[in-house]
Amino acid sequence: MCLQIAIQTNHLVKCFGNNKVIKDCSMCIEQGTIYGFLGANGAGKTTIFKLLTGLLIPDSGSTEILGSAMLKNRDRMLSQIGSLIESPAFYEHLSARKNLEIHLAYMNTSGFGVEKALQMVGLSDVGEKTVAKFSLGMRQRLGIARALIHQPKILILDEPINGLDPMGIKAMRELFLILTKENGMTILISSHILSEIEHIADTIGVIVDGKIVCESNLAQIKAEHKGSLEDYFFATMNGGNQLW
Ligand SMILES: Nc1ncnc2c1ncn2[C@@H]1O[C@H](COP(=O)(O)OP(=O)(O)O)[C@@H](O)[C@H]1O
Ligand SMILES: [Mg+2]
Repeated sequence: MCLQIAIQTNHLVKCFGNNKVIKDCSMCIEQGTIYGFLGANGAGKTTIFKLLTGLLIPDSGSTEILGSAMLKNRDRMLSQIGSLIESPAFYEHLSARKNLEIHLAYMNTSGFGVEKALQMVGLSDVGEKTVAKFSLGMRQRLGIARALIHQPKILILDEPINGLDPMGIKAMRELFLILTKENGMTILISSHILSEIEHIADTIGVIVDGKIVCESNLAQIKAEHKGSLEDYFFATMNGGNQLW
């Protein structure tokens, strides 16, 4: 039982045809924290994120966002969430700035404002450039800007540092920490690489073949597994088998 819960999933199950890809997943994410969601390719991270954001409907189980049932209060809940899931789609022929303006108008809020959001993700100099001319890293940054610009209470970021250079990765890590500490956001961030998120996560959840096999406080795990944190997580993620 955790207090001040941002996201709680209860026994989520999702099948694609006969293939059960999410198996009885229960997760608990506390408000104002960063939850690192780890799992090998194909483990089910993106599917969970789509269930949390209403892009998919579970076959059974439920989700509560900020204490309210997700499916019964879908529109209200979605206004509290910002997300970047898989490769973000944009209006390619429009500028980065215009894409963000359209999103803010759709969300019916001024949020952080376009200039601040561009500056937060390091795109101030290319705000006028059309998105079609953006590199993969620039698109990721713009996707993060769009996810956070309306000042949601919860940010859901699916492998957000894909395509970023080392400076970009460091800058985004710092941004995520600021968003939790100064803006009180809750961040759920997925990765298949522990080292990408071990510097920022408060809690780590590990999914293996559609099942949550570990949900623990990272500081506690670090204290218990001095020097071999990566080995511990590889063993947890792989169930002792080499899958990488
Ligand atoms: N739309 C879909 N139709 C059929 N199978 C899917 C679909 N989306 C995902 N899957 C399958 O569900 C499993 C989990 O995928 P996914 O959630 O994308 O994993 P991850 O994000 O951890 O790499 C994989 O076996 C994948 O092939
Ligand atoms: Mg994925």
